[in-house]
Amino acid sequence: MKTEKIEIFDTTLRDGEQVPGCKLDKQQKLAIAQQLDELGVDVIEAGFPISSPGDFEAVQAISKIVKNAKICALTRANTKDIDSAAKALEYAQKPRIHTGIGTSDSHIKYKFNSTQEAIIDRAAEAVAYAKKYVQDVEFYAEDAGRTDNAYLAKVCEAVIQAGATVINIPDTTGYCLPTNYGNKIKYLKEHVKGIDNIVLSCHCHNDLGMATANSIAGIINGARQIECTINGIGERAGNTALEEVVMILKQHEDLGFHTDINTTMLNHLSQLTSATMGMIVQPNKAIVGSNAFAHSSGIHQDGVIKRRDTYEIIDPKDVGVDASSIILTARSGRSALAYRFKNIGYDVTKNELDTLYDYFLGVADTKKEVTEVDLYAIMNMYTQNR
Ligand code: KIV
Ligand code: ZN
Repeated sequence: MKTEKIEIFDTTLRDGEQVPGCKLDKQQKLAIAQQLDELGVDVIEAGFPISSPGDFEAVQAISKIVKNAKICALTRANTKDIDSAAKALEYAQKPRIHTGIGTSDSHIKYKFNSTQEAIIDRAAEAVAYAKKYVQDVEFYAEDAGRTDNAYLAKVCEAVIQAGATVINIPDTTGYCLPTNYGNKIKYLKEHVKGIDNIVLSCHCHNDLGMATANSIAGIINGARQIECTINGIGERAGNTALEEVVMILKQHEDLGFHTDINTTMLNHLSQLTSATMGMIVQPNKAIVGSNAFAHSSGIHQDGVIKRRDTYEIIDPKDVGVDASSIILTARSGRSALAYRFKNIGYDVTKNELDTLYDYFLGVADTKKEVTEVDLYAIMNMYTQNR
């Protein structure tokens, strides 16, 4: 089936690195950027060059070494920021400047003490200015999630005329429902002149736990780029998780989309990012959590041992995990126990299993997980008492 390509824009090193405690040094950023390039992301947002000399240098260094992905640098809508981004990107093979401004009523009134008309002028001027340096200019309408659609459409038309190649529609505060966000993208596709000549991009935050669902709603309604981070790290409750949107599009090929991500590297990237940033991944995190392919209740274990896809929609190998795991707890059944004994070399009969299972329950009720060492001890107990 022929499917349409969705561009993956990774912002782990920019929106992700903004998180308190996640700051990286240049070498760490280079190591992650190289792995992201190998993973197959289309765009790496490497940083916000005007924000500090260290970030400027990191963007410059990443620009020099990355061979495949476009390298993007963030700016506000002013000439100083854009000059700095252009300089930091000077060695990039495929540079992109990402400039923008807040467009919601609250941003216009309280952040800028400005008017809708003046904001449109600043947006278009910033894009036109960035265009003097690079061909590829992405515009973000900050807080687009809470911006009136008719006004947002006017902003989009102005920046398209000024030369924007990509327009980012951020749900900066993670407020939208998937239907709101999807309808916003649909509205822009239907009402903005020239919209079919540019790429619409989803940039969703996770304050209500809907970043991934909102990004997918955006794609279904006409967006063709997703901005996301490894493990979903980012401001407050985080950004859209890269591994989630990529695997959703892969598992639901019927939606008609694909990405160029090498999914077998997802687990590795998750662990690298977590270790480098010192941000643990919650065990039940979709796709990359340590429990994502672990089964511990008797009914599920029995089903998975008979046939993996009874309780698994993803082959763990597809995301770089060797195999699903059968975890032994007091909720496990005989079939899981026999399976784990077999893995350590004991092919037990049905009668042996009945007795072993009684010993097992005695141990399992005293601890959270029965380990391989416990299994050897249980087998010892059994052989000595036979
Ligand atoms: O969430 C947001 O609005 C952003 C923009 C700066 C792109 O991160
Ligand atoms: Zn953001």
